[in-house]
Amino acid sequence: MALRGKVALVTGGAQGIGRAAAEILLENQAKVALVDLNQSVGEECRNALDQKHGEGNCIFIQCDVTDRGRLQEAFQSTVEQFGRLDIVINNAGINNEKNWEKTIEVNLTSVIKGTYLALDHMSKEYGKEGGVIINVSSMAAFLHSPHQPVYTATKHGVIGFSRAMADASEQGDYGVRINALCPAFVDTQLLRTVENEETMGKFVKFKDEFKQRMDKFGVLNCFSRATLPFRQSFLTEERIDRNTSGFSPVSQR
Ligand SMILES: NC(=O)c1ccc[n+]([C@@H]2O[C@H](COP(=O)([O-])OP(=O)(O)OC[C@H]3O[C@@H](n4cnc5c(N)ncnc54)[C@H](O)[C@@H]3O)[C@@H](O)[C@H]2O)c1
Repeated sequence: MALRGKVALVTGGAQGIGRAAAEILLENQAKVALVDLNQSVGEECRNALDQKHGEGNCIFIQCDVTDRGRLQEAFQSTVEQFGRLDIVINNAGINNEKNWEKTIEVNLTSVIKGTYLALDHMSKEYGKEGGVIINVSSMAAFLHSPHQPVYTATKHGVIGFSRAMADASEQGDYGVRINALCPAFVDTQLLRTVENEETMGKFVKFKDEFKQRMDKFGVLNCFSRATLPFRQSFLTEERIDRNTSGFSPVSQR
């Protein structure tokens, strides 16, 4: 998919992996709506991206993705601002085993909501022009850890849901490519929560094994030029090869 002139909505876009995706989109002349809970970080991010890519290409919408009405409004505002919607990245995520119900709400329920809202605005079923949905899962979906049982469950859920929806899209001729992205370790705020009792609860005692895994696999910098071809490929390729990176192909268009 050529990105010039396309419109993307990125949840959790104010920092980390979501912000890195937004930067790639803007570099390729797409317009971006950053949808994030964190007002100050979101505004700071939008200002920095305005300076780099010019004003008017990026908007920030403060929104808790677990609030169905607010998420619906965020989609609506994006379409009102930019006139269309082509790409949705359901990326917002948390790592909180203590408040595990919230983890399910943010990491799985909101991804499902975000996918359905994306289809409302992009599916040929509703007379729209098609598009791309990327649901952010994790390597945790394949490599479980005693340190994050509920986080792991949500990321398994994202893959199962995305696979089934990709089949629905193909068989229902929605014209929407649905992929799941499964990053390994990336140096973001979320990764810093793994050592805290406040977020991991009683499972914090398994953190050493988890950190050994980080040493074994390494930790990516999502803004490094070295990861650029991979970051770009999941947004632009019609088909993504399983062997190139942690990206898991679910469907193609
Ligand atoms: N960092 C890693 O090692 C790693 C590995 C695999 C998968 N992931 C996944 O990548 C995604 C992005 O994570 P990240 O590492 O960039 O983390 P991050 O903490 O840097 O960014 C997450 C963003 O989501 C936002 N957010 C959290 N709850 C929200 C809510 N209720 N509503 C709206 N926005 C909300 C935060 O404000 C933040 O800006 C997550 O789904 C995460 O599970 C991360």
